[in-house]
Amino acid sequence: MMRLDSKVAIITGASSGIGKAIALELAKEGAKVAIAARHLDFLYKVEKEILQSGKEAIAFPMDVSNKDNWNEFIHKVIESWQKIDILINNAGIMPLSFIRNLRVDEWERMIDVNLKGVLFGTAAVLPYMRSQGYGHIVNISSTAGRWLFDGGAVYCATKFAVNAFSEGFRQEITSTENIRMTLIEPGITATNLPSTINDPDIRASSEDNPPIMPLQPSDIAAAVIYTLTQPPQVNVNEILVMPTQQKI
Ligand SMILES: NC(=O)c1ccc[n+]([C@@H]2O[C@H](COP(=O)([O-])OP(=O)(O)OC[C@H]3O[C@@H](n4cnc5c(N)ncnc54)[C@H](OP(=O)(O)O)[C@@H]3O)[C@@H](O)[C@H]2O)c1
Repeated sequence: MMRLDSKVAIITGASSGIGKAIALELAKEGAKVAIAARHLDFLYKVEKEILQSGKEAIAFPMDVSNKDNWNEFIHKVIESWQKIDILINNAGIMPLSFIRNLRVDEWERMIDVNLKGVLFGTAAVLPYMRSQGYGHIVNISSTAGRWLFDGGAVYCATKFAVNAFSEGFRQEITSTENIRMTLIEPGITATNLPSTINDPDIRASSEDNPPIMPLQPSDIAAAVIYTLTQPPQVNVNEILVMPTQQKI
């Protein structure tokens, strides 16, 4: 018997990095995983790896900032497995830039993916979790949800907003409806996320930063497994996990 046997979990942004590591780990623990992202070639590789290990997976192409995509995705999950135990809101982008460079389209996209994606995902699963009488939502925020850094004003704003929403959800819903909410705040983790940075000034300024040993995506997956395997009376509100060498 594995710790997440018979659980149905949705993971966004599961084609790479932290989301992929969470999907693989949840499947290893026995969960049926519905994985979503935009780039199908990578997503299908993750699905294939899970299926080849004898576990269940469904890959779904979607943009988390699109409400219609969410409706179609949830319909598919319910049709296949009839319930949703877990939602991991992980998809995110980080096109850092200095405010003075006015990369307004990137600001808008970050709000759409990092914030609206979390809100739309929550709205899509909540009616099912309420009618089941249980559920668990895990939002992948960041240390950027606690501390500002140069070039991170809008990215941090999206993560601060995710933190506020998660706490609001916990106070309003978790305490009365048995739907748990956990906020995970990773520090620097070795993934493709910096590839979403296009501002040349950020690229130039980050060359001065001393290198540190980053977290691995599997370190964050371990934190997620910890929260999901607690007994029913335990809501892990928040986990802040940082590289040993990271200051803020
Ligand atoms: N790496 C870090 O240092 C770090 C630290 C703290 C927090 N985080 C957070 O961790 C989460 C995962 O990031 P990562 O580091 O694992 O980076 P990553 O390797 O770039 O993964 C991001 C994932 O999000 C997906 N995605 C992006 N836009 C999407 C959209 N509109 N709709 C659906 N999926 C979308 C990407 O897939 P497609 O491109 O195929 O859609 C990819 O699977 C993010 O929320 C990030 O803010 C990362």
